Amino acid sequence: MSFPEDFNWGSATASYQIEGGFNDGGRTPSIWDTFSKTPGKVVNGDTGDVACDHYHRYPEDIKIMKDLGIQSYRFSLAWPRIIPNGTGETNKHGIDFYDRLIDGLLDAGIQPTATLYHWDLPQTLQDKGGWANRDIVQQFADYATVAAEKFGDRVANWITINEPWCVTWLGHFVGVHAPGLKDLETAVAVAHHTALAHAEATRALRAVRPEIRSGITLNMTNYRIDDENNAELQELRNYWDSNINKWWMDAQLHGTYPQNLVELYGDKLSKVVKPGDMEALKIDSEFLGINYYSDSFLNTPTAEQVEKNEGTFAFPINSDGTPPGPLTDMGWPITPTGLTDLLVRIHKDWPEIQDIAITENGVAYGDEPDEKGEVNDDRRVDYLVNHLAAVSDAIDQGVPVKSYYYWSLLDNFEWAEGYAKRFGIVFVNFETLQRIVKLSGSVYSKVIATNGKSLEALTKK
Ligand code: FCB
Repeated sequence: MSFPEDFNWGSATASYQIEGGFNDGGRTPSIWDTFSKTPGKVVNGDTGDVACDHYHRYPEDIKIMKDLGIQSYRFSLAWPRIIPNGTGETNKHGIDFYDRLIDGLLDAGIQPTATLYHWDLPQTLQDKGGWANRDIVQQFADYATVAAEKFGDRVANWITINEPWCVTWLGHFVGVHAPGLKDLETAVAVAHHTALAHAEATRALRAVRPEIRSGITLNMTNYRIDDENNAELQELRNYWDSNINKWWMDAQLHGTYPQNLVELYGDKLSKVVKPGDMEALKIDSEFLGINYYSDSFLNTPTAEQVEKNEGTFAFPINSDGTPPGPLTDMGWPITPTGLTDLLVRIHKDWPEIQDIAITENGVAYGDEPDEKGEVNDDRRVDYLVNHLAAVSDAIDQGVPVKSYYYWSLLDNFEWAEGYAKRFGIVFVNFETLQRIVKLSGSVYSKVIATNGKSLEALTKK
């Protein structure tokens, strides 16, 4: 099992999922406050009002990370805490909170990695069209400028947008994420604006602090089909590969969008792409963030599925309708070697990327404390160990993976699934807000302390 000497071991969270303090210190509502308070949108009607109360308990969370030996912490800034109206005036209380968090991390010897946008758009901006309104590109760049001015002296690594695919498609076409819209034309506009906003925000960060390292985080996957000779499935796979894996990648690296999607979207796309946009999309990054949870399995969609999804959405099940092996609590398959395949593919298809950070990888299982108060989440241990082994295999094949952030440090508000799905290496009791390090947390701690060497014994088990 090999990891470079300077491999960076981290854990990740996001503001709306853990902070709580929803109306503390001048924070205004985000689209997720609105969405979660709309009946029927989130399981059990859960909201992020309190979440893990990290807004108040962050010193305890920093201490937990320090004790575990976590070297780097990926968190996100809540835009509505920093600029409550979305644009214009900044909010001292919000900025103070992140100052305290960042200083606390540095004091504990933990490197902060900040994500600018992990889905909590100020509601005031949504009221003006949000990501579908082109003004968002400048608004986002202005927010990036503020963030770099306030925190860029201490935060070296920046992620602009987390999973623009989810922002675009889950938020504006499928409607299961905030703002809950279901419109193809809107989604295509968002796909373009997020790509452009990434480039402009990167320029804005650099204009303030040229030494900053920044990148985008993309959720990527391998699309598997069970019949390589089936032309219909191949076409479906090409569509999906372009939609999820290539759109933001080709935009930033080449200033292009995949041709099959350009044709499919037609004037829905051409009318939002202004002169000069395609050149502006192209931007160098210091690293690429990858979020990987599982592979995706495509089968021929039924007529009903095609109709429901207007022919543009995936069907991640086997062709006989059965799931591919055991599923996690999210209903996702477990495909660790897919992570190796994905990393090798990225390195082959986009060799200019010289630094890959796994910015998220993790699993939901609902293990609770036993009578001794211990959380023995063996299945999460297996998932972690097997995925780290997959990362190590990719490194052995020459892929420049430099960091790994486990998702998530804490059990938290899992978007439309509410608190029902637990991803943490630290258990959170959502009644008392007590934290308990799970077995997976202890195992990860050992992995970090040995720079991965302890994995050898664990994979042989
Ligand atoms: C990703 C999100 C993250 C978390 C995991 C499970 O899509 O970026 O916030 O919810 O999924």
